[in-house]
Amino acid sequence: MSDISSAPPARGERILSLRGVTKKFGAVSALTDIDLDIHAGEVVALVGDNGAGKSTLVKVLAGVHQPSSGTIEFQGKEVSLADPGAALNMGIATVFQDLALCENLDVVSNLFLGHELNPLRLDEVQMEVRAWTLLKELAARIPSVREPVASLSGGQRQTVAIARSLLLNPKIIMLDEPTAALGVAQTAEVLNLIERVRDRGLGVIIISHNMEDVRAVADRIVVLRLGKNNGIFTPIRAITNWSPPSPAPAKTRFRAVRNARPPRPRHRSKAHEPEHQTFCAGPQRRARAPRRYDRRRDPRLFRSRQSG
Ligand SMILES: Nc1ncnc2c1ncn2[C@@H]1O[C@H](COP(=O)(O)OP(=O)(O)OP(=O)(O)O)[C@@H](O)[C@H]1O
Ligand SMILES: [Mg+2]
Repeated sequence: MSDISSAPPARGERILSLRGVTKKFGAVSALTDIDLDIHAGEVVALVGDNGAGKSTLVKVLAGVHQPSSGTIEFQGKEVSLADPGAALNMGIATVFQDLALCENLDVVSNLFLGHELNPLRLDEVQMEVRAWTLLKELAARIPSVREPVASLSGGQRQTVAIARSLLLNPKIIMLDEPTAALGVAQTAEVLNLIERVRDRGLGVIIISHNMEDVRAVADRIVVLRLGKNNGIFTPIRAITNWSPPSPAPAKTRFRAVRNARPPRPRHRSKAHEPEHQTFCAGPQRRARAPRRYDRRRDPRLFRSRQSG
């Protein structure tokens, strides 16, 4: 573990590499021969049905479970993640779905829980300054760092949990269902936060059942099915089945997903209704209005006149 470099990895460098990772719980094979690569500065989404093995994979990487077979390489060195402390020290941080925050403590205390500065005589001022600095870097919308977590919204709590995992300068951060219990605005806030974490050069693994969120932030989508690799997709392909020459920047993609619904008419006009378009559409969609009946132009009468 001491061989692992403490310097931040270069963007695009492969940080984590899993080969043939299998995890068995007695007769149940939760993971079978899983291969996975995570690079610095990318968001990888793990998706799959219930029981696909997503949480088991995250727990293997967090040091909670030991793999039955297979290898895990971290920055090119084969490692064993014996316990959660070992994974954290190596630079793999996890935000579990329940966030594990203490509701009665304020934001600063939650951020530094277990890693207090000067624990014998708490350096409250320094901790508060670091908390503000970190939250400002993440552009987090927290009203006060002295506010108890119980009074924060779901999105703000998620922000505190993510900020806490960043305090130890990890190289990879794993988020289990970070937007599962959030509304639209808070989900957008958390997705923006994930983009900022990615911009800091971290590798991000996000588990989600929500494909809108996945498409919005993920650079790669890794699909698990019944504990096995079932394909890797890029979000653009996942949307349109068409691959452009170069992927659009993440922000554009997010905007594109948000604006994916068809534009609404600007005013309350019936011009967009198909039956109305025949008569009322503008110059591009000009359609003929039915002519008044003219006996002299009636082809039936014309034919009958000729034959007669
Ligand atoms: N501690 C355990 N003991 C026995 N079996 C387990 C254990 N943990 C997970 N499993 C089994 O491993 C399989 C994968 O479970 P896992 O929780 O990883 O799925 P998941 O993809 O996270 O599903 P979900 O979307 O429902 O969270 C399941 O069949 C589950 O029953
Ligand atoms: Mg799960």
